[in-house]
Order: sequence, then C-alpha cells, then structure tokens
Amino acid sequence: MIETHRYALVQRLLHWLIAFLVLLALGIGMILGFLGFDGTREFFGKTVTDALYTTHKTVGVLILVLMLSRLGVRLVLGVPPHRPPLGGFERVASHTVHDLLYMALLAMPILGGLATAAGGYPVSFFGWTCRG
Ligand code: HEM
Repeated sequence: MIETHRYALVQRLLHWLIAFLVLLALGIGMILGFLGFDGTREFFGKTVTDALYTTHKTVGVLILVLMLSRLGVRLVLGVPPHRPPLGGFERVASHTVHDLLYMALLAMPILGGLATAAGGYPVSFFGWTCRG
C-alpha cells in the first residue's frame, strides 16, 4: 500500500540532515563558547582549534542553505494533513512552534555569520573564505 499521508522523502531527508547539523553546530559552538578562543587553543592546540572554527562556520552556512531549500520544498510540496485532525488550540500551537523553529534556524546562521563578519573574522564555507 502506498503511504500518502507523510512528508515526501526529500523533506524527511532534509529534516534529519538539518537536525544532525544543528547538533554538530551546537556541540562545537558550546566548546568554543565555554573555552573561548584561548582556552580552546590551549586545550586542543592550534590545528584542532582552527578546524573547530572552520567546521562550525561551514556547518552553520550549510544549515542556512538547507533551511532555505527546505522552505522552498515546503512551499512547493506542502505538508501532509494531521491524522487524526488537530483541534483549534493544538493547530495554532503546532503552527506557532513550527514557525518559531523555522525562524530560529534561519536567524541563527544569519546572525552567526553577521557577528563573525562584523568582528572582522572570516566566514568560512568548506574551502571558501569571505572577509566582511
Ligand atoms: C544554526 C547555526 C548555528 C548555531 C546553532 C550556532 C551556535 C553557536 C553557539 C551555541 C556558540 C557558543 C556561544 C557562546 O556560548 O558564546 C557559537 C559560537 C560561535 N559561532 Fe555559531 N552557531 C551557528 C552558526 C554560526 C555561523 C554561520 C557562524 C559564522 C559563519 C558562526 C560563528 C561562530 C563563532 C565564530 C563562534 C565563537 C564565538 C567566540 O569565540 O566566542 N556560528 N555558535
């Protein structure tokens, strides 16, 4: 039997890929935040510290690109209906939480990139580097 009341494969893949990348960005971000640049360098050494910064920035930019793609896919394919249908309050709560999550996942990489560039630091995406 063909299941029609579920998200399309591309939406499910984007969902889990973004979830994984957000955990990675948060994990590395917390190391950088707790230890700071000097502490990270003291603890991990220069090579690993540079790799942590570059990976964090790359993952962040990747999240932004994937979130924009996800938004586009959602606009084209829509979302499956809830089974059973949600009540009035549940529907509003569900939409609000999802909208806030979308906004947060777009705002975080944008603000991270802007803050980095405003501080005069490079924004990296794999091998590319952009200086603000
Ligand atoms: C969804 C995407 C992102 C998440 C969830 C995220 C999360 C975080 C977190 C939790 C911290 C630690 C903050 C602290 O405790 O001080 C952090 C730090 C940092 N983030 Fe992000 N970030 C994201 C995207 C980006 C992007 C796109 C860039 C730049 C292109 C970036 C650059 C940085 C830098 C440079 C730091 C270290 C700041 C310092 O040295 O104190 N982040 N990030």
